[in-house]
Amino acid sequence: MADFHAAMAEGYGFDGPTIGLGRPLVDPAAPVTDVEVRIPVGLLNRHGLIAGATGTGKTKTLQLLAEQIAAAGTPVFAADMKGDLAGIAAPGEANDRVTARNTELAHPWTPGAAAVELMSLSGQNGVPLRATVASFGPILLSKVLTLNDTQESTLSLVFRYCDDKKLPLLELEDLRTVLAYLAGPGKDELEMLGGISKATVGVIQRKVTELEGDGGDVFFGEPELDLRDLLRTAPDGRGVISVLHLADVQARPALFSTFLMWVLAELFEMLPEVGDPEKPTLVFFLDEAHLLFADATKAFRNAVSQTVRLIRSKGVGVFFVTQLPTDLPDEVLAQLGHRVQHAVRAFTPKDAKALREVVQTYPETDFYELDETLQSLGVGEAVVTALNPRGVPTPVCAARLYPPASRMGPLTPEERAAITALSPLHAKYATPVDRESAMEILTAKLNDDRDAAEAARERAKPAPPRAPDRRPKDDDGLLGGIGDLMGSRVAKQVTREVVRGIVGMLKRRR
Ligand SMILES: Nc1ncnc2c1ncn2[C@@H]1O[C@H](COP(=O)(O)OP(=O)(O)OP(=O)(O)O)[C@@H](O)[C@H]1O
Ligand SMILES: [Mg+2]
Repeated sequence: MADFHAAMAEGYGFDGPTIGLGRPLVDPAAPVTDVEVRIPVGLLNRHGLIAGATGTGKTKTLQLLAEQIAAAGTPVFAADMKGDLAGIAAPGEANDRVTARNTELAHPWTPGAAAVELMSLSGQNGVPLRATVASFGPILLSKVLTLNDTQESTLSLVFRYCDDKKLPLLELEDLRTVLAYLAGPGKDELEMLGGISKATVGVIQRKVTELEGDGGDVFFGEPELDLRDLLRTAPDGRGVISVLHLADVQARPALFSTFLMWVLAELFEMLPEVGDPEKPTLVFFLDEAHLLFADATKAFRNAVSQTVRLIRSKGVGVFFVTQLPTDLPDEVLAQLGHRVQHAVRAFTPKDAKALREVVQTYPETDFYELDETLQSLGVGEAVVTALNPRGVPTPVCAARLYPPASRMGPLTPEERAAITALSPLHAKYATPVDRESAMEILTAKLNDDRDAAEAARERAKPAPPRAPDRRPKDDDGLLGGIGDLMGSRVAKQVTREVVRGIVGMLKRRR
C-alpha cells in the first residue's frame, strides 16, 4: 500500500493546469485521498479513449472532463447521444449519493453549470446545424448512404461532373435531380463520364431518396455551419460547450457519425498549425464511436485515422467514447494517449477475448491483475493511464471518479427552449436558405431546352432546318452568369478539395 501511494503520488504529482478525474484505488474501501488522478490540459490534444460496458459511467466521465476543459478556457464540442449530457448546462444536485462520494474522495465540490450551446441536426432541440452536399463530399456521403466501393466511385464521378458543369450541390434534392437527369435526359453525358452504369445511378438515386425521408432533407443545405462558431469562449473566459443533440436522429446513425467526421475535416482545413499549445484550441468528444466505423469502407477508415493524426498539431484533441476499445481500428487506437477504461463485462468467450485485448494495450503494472480489476470496477470507477506533461504514460491506476459539478441527467424541454432562445447563433441558423443550385439550374435548362426545341420547330416551318446545336447548353453561356455568381463558392470548394486531397478525404477513383 505504501508502495502504491508513493508510485501514484510520483506518477500523478505534476504541476501546471490539469483536469482532475478522481482518487487512486487499490483497496476499494480506501481511496487515496491525497493524490489526484489527472490529465495535463496541455496534453489534451494527444487524444483519448473513454470505454466501458453500458451503464458504467462513460457519459458522466465525458461530462466531468468537458466541464473542466471548458473551465480551463478551451471550447468543447460533444455529441449527446441520449439527451443525458445536456444537463451539463444546469448545476448539479448535492443529493446523498453525490455528497457521500465527495466526502469519501475528499473532493471539494460546488455545483456549477457550464456555458452551453445546444445544437441539433433535426432542426429541433437546439440551433439547427446544416452542411451542404458538396462540402460533405463523395466519401462521407457514400458512408451516409451506405454505398459500396463501386457506387462510391460513381458518386465521386457525379460530384466531379457537377464541379465541371458548375452545378452547385447544396441540398439532397440537387443530387437527386442531377442523378435523375443523368439517368434520363442527360444520358449522353452519363456515357461521356465513362464507366458508369445506369443501374448504379439508379441505386444511388433510391438511397438519396431514402435519406431525404430520414431527415437528410432538413440537415443538408444552407446556411452551412461556420466552424468558428464551435470555437467560442464566454465573456468570463470559459470555453463554450457545444452539445449536439442526436437522440432524435437515431434512425440514421451514419448521418451523425459522419457529420462529426465532417466537422473534424473542416476544422482541419480551417485551423492553423500550432504544434503543442499550452491549452488546446478545441476538444471534441465522439460518443458511440463504434457507429463511425461499423461497415465503413477502407477509404473512410483511412480518412478518419489520418484526420485524427493530423489534427493534433492544429490543437484539437479528440476523445472517442465507446463500449470496447476494439470497436476502433488499431490505427486510431494507437493514437489515443489518454485512456479511461470503465468496467468490462466478460460474459461470453467473445467478451473474454476482447477483455484480453484490452489488457494488452495497457502498460505494465505491479499493483493490479488487470483482467480481474477491469471486471470488478464499480460504476463511476475506471482504470486510467494518461500522458504526463513530458508525454510519458502515467502509471496504470484504478480510480474512483468525482461526480461532475453539473447535473447528471437531461434538461427539461423548458430549460432547453430557454437556452436555445437566448443563443446568439439562433438567428444565424434558424431559417434555411434556398439558393439557386443544381436543381433549379437543371430544371431551367430542361425547360429552356424544351422552349428552344419548340422555337426551332417554329422556325423550321418557313425555312429549311439548320443543323441542331449539339453543345451542352451550360457550355454556351446559359450557366455562365450563375458560374460567375458561384465563383467564390467554387474557389472555396477547390481549396477545400486540395486540402482534403492531402488528408486523403477525397481519393477520387477515375
Ligand atoms: N463520476 C460519477 N459520479 C457519480 N455517479 C456516477 C459517476 N459516473 C457514473 N455515475 C452513475 O452511474 C450512472 C450511469 O452513468 P452513465 O450514464 O455515465 O453510464 P454510461 O456508461 O454512459 O451508460 P450507457 O452506455 O448506457 O450510455 C449515472 O446516472 C450515475 O448515477
Ligand atoms: Mg452514456
